[in-house]
Amino acid sequence: MGLRFLFVRSPARNMKMISAHVKEIHGFQYFTGNHPEIRSQNRSKRRPVEFGNKVWASSLRLIGHLQKAPFELRERRVLEIGCGWGLLGVYLAKVFDCEVTCSDFDDNVLPIVELHAQLNKVTVQTQKASFLDLSQESLDGYDIILGAEVCYSEAAAVELMGLIEKAVHDRVKDILIVDPGRPDFEDCCQWAQGQFHAKVHELPGTANGKVTKLLHIRGGAL
Ligand SMILES: C[S@@+](CC[C@H](N)C(=O)[O-])C[C@H]1O[C@@H](n2cnc3c(N)ncnc32)[C@H](O)[C@@H]1O
Repeated sequence: MGLRFLFVRSPARNMKMISAHVKEIHGFQYFTGNHPEIRSQNRSKRRPVEFGNKVWASSLRLIGHLQKAPFELRERRVLEIGCGWGLLGVYLAKVFDCEVTCSDFDDNVLPIVELHAQLNKVTVQTQKASFLDLSQESLDGYDIILGAEVCYSEAAAVELMGLIEKAVHDRVKDILIVDPGRPDFEDCCQWAQGQFHAKVHELPGTANGKVTKLLHIRGGAL
């Protein structure tokens, strides 16, 4: 057996190709990197500068979890942080009629979020903001904050923990961060479990042989 078989990516469950540039998962559509507009942006000066250049596998795993409606999702006010192409936010707007803001400190990703909103015939707000930029007052407007693969460095983890602290002391009910288990994410999970009502779940399936972990923090300090 060649190495090719060991490292093959396991396709997300229930994902199907709709056309050469569009995939569908759980009733929601998203573009591949081959979509002409995305490809041309990725080759221009407007290309994403900080890893927001593709759909990261954990976001698809989290969509698989959310489609089971593990807690109240309908018509919630949602903030997606480090949104990249905005799949989580656009999915929740489409399937659960959520009122969504997709935010990222790299504004080059925001036109791609708009493309996904148009593809799925929903409206989402977009916002250029770092985790640090998000004030306690602005977080007060949300029921749910979620992000995929946003805790990949010490700097990101420190900013993320600051944001979580502001959010749980406010009215945000659920914070969900999903990741394939990077060390900085593991540190963040350990910290959150010592501070808040926080649990870490393993989501079904693997991506590139890695288990996807979900940190779920419920509002209100211990
Ligand atoms: C690995 S990508 C993941 C993108 C998307 N969540 C996904 O799963 O496809 C990380 C994203 O987080 C954004 N990001 C990283 N650190 C950030 C910060 N401190 N504040 C806001 N956005 C950040 C990056 O610009 C990038 O779009």
